[in-house]
Amino acid sequence: MAKPSLPPEPYRIKVVEPIRRTTKSERETLLHRGGYNVFNIPADKVFIDLLTDSGTSAMSDNQWSGMMIGDESYAGARNFFNLERTVRRIFGFKHVIPTHQGRAAERVLFGTVLKKGDCVPNNIHFDTTRANVEFAGAEALDLAGPDAYDPKSAAPFKGNMDVGRLEKLLKSKDRPNIPLVMMTVTNNSGGGQPVSLANIKAVSRVCRAFRIPFFLDACRFAENAYFIKKREPGLAGQTALAIAHEMFALADGATMSAKKDALVNIGGFIALNDGALAERLKNLLIIGEGFPTYGGLAGRDLEAMARGLDEVMEEDYLEHRIRQVAYLGELLDAEGVPIFKPVGGHAVYLLADEFLPHIPRERYPGWALTVALYREAGIRAVEIGGVMFGRKGEDGKDVWPALELVRLAVPRRVYTVSHVQYVADALIQLYKNRKSVRGLKIVHEATQLRHFTVRMEEL
Ligand code: F0G
Repeated sequence: MAKPSLPPEPYRIKVVEPIRRTTKSERETLLHRGGYNVFNIPADKVFIDLLTDSGTSAMSDNQWSGMMIGDESYAGARNFFNLERTVRRIFGFKHVIPTHQGRAAERVLFGTVLKKGDCVPNNIHFDTTRANVEFAGAEALDLAGPDAYDPKSAAPFKGNMDVGRLEKLLKSKDRPNIPLVMMTVTNNSGGGQPVSLANIKAVSRVCRAFRIPFFLDACRFAENAYFIKKREPGLAGQTALAIAHEMFALADGATMSAKKDALVNIGGFIALNDGALAERLKNLLIIGEGFPTYGGLAGRDLEAMARGLDEVMEEDYLEHRIRQVAYLGELLDAEGVPIFKPVGGHAVYLLADEFLPHIPRERYPGWALTVALYREAGIRAVEIGGVMFGRKGEDGKDVWPALELVRLAVPRRVYTVSHVQYVADALIQLYKNRKSVRGLKIVHEATQLRHFTVRMEEL
């Protein structure tokens, strides 16, 4: 196998934020105190934080300087118009409605268009998207193809929706009311895998034939566009920006968490073409978020978002970004550490049940891996497995999600190659000593989203 390599960072470091290494005995105490839940570890006791790529980006000097010209007027701030112009230029939609983050965009959209008994198909709904659909009394239906759930398939676009199933659903006589179809690019809940342009085209065609609006959950649209450029036949000569244009031209609107591919720490928006719907969305926006030219954000945040959207489309940024995440995956794969393949756009996902085959599902191997990784190396990752998605079936037995994963999400422009190497070395070492990792039992859990607050004991 070729030695993994990485292009140099296309930025240099102007401001530093010190991170501190802790001792193993300090971490042991913190784990014990925190109920063996890494969400309970104070962030300054984490050396490398791979909990999420959301809101954790490093902003550029250009973005920071933009924050100094924040116009904090209640209505009509100039930064809103900058954002509107930028979103129109990149996304191509006519109407731009800012929100404080992605889930607020979802709440405003679904709170307006959904009613009880409706259904929203998606490739795979992200948790907050699903929660917002269900909160409106509707069904969140996942229609990703079988590849999405196969960690070994080398298919290039495992985020694709099963268009046949979508068409069948729309054709069926007793189908529920479907006010819109969504598509998540890249597919976060399915390993950060991209969706092909051909698949977006096919879904768009079906939606248009049935006159159903088609929206993209666009958090990681730039990463998706870059994968299309690299992997889809005939598109290598196009810019990521041109591909993003094509993706959005096939849709009627998008929800956006700017905390990912707008390179900011807070922000989001809805963008769409339907003027009448935009007016309806603004009604709900004003109740919960704010006036339509600020939507829950300060003027300075709108400016940082506008500038971040241009920066994220730069080809050398995208090349480094995607390669950095892939590089981490390649270092692990070369030493036999089991990972979800191919590596996604924003994270490497470990196959925890293969990593720790001696720990059965009911002892939470994914969770055990997050605990061990923090204990051994001060690295924080997130379990996406039995604690996050496990539930009791009607017969009282545990029902487990198809995959038991641990996500190593890589913040944008934050860590250097030596940090990545440190993470890989720690995991390779842990893999060698995997037999020493112990399973856990739950001693306290909440009824909803239990992973955030669950307390555990080691067995
Ligand atoms: N959609 C997708 C695909 C996401 O990944 C997220 C957030 C959201 C919507 C919601 O956006 O956080 O701005 O409200 N994902 C984060 C993560 C939290 O860690 O994957 P938000």
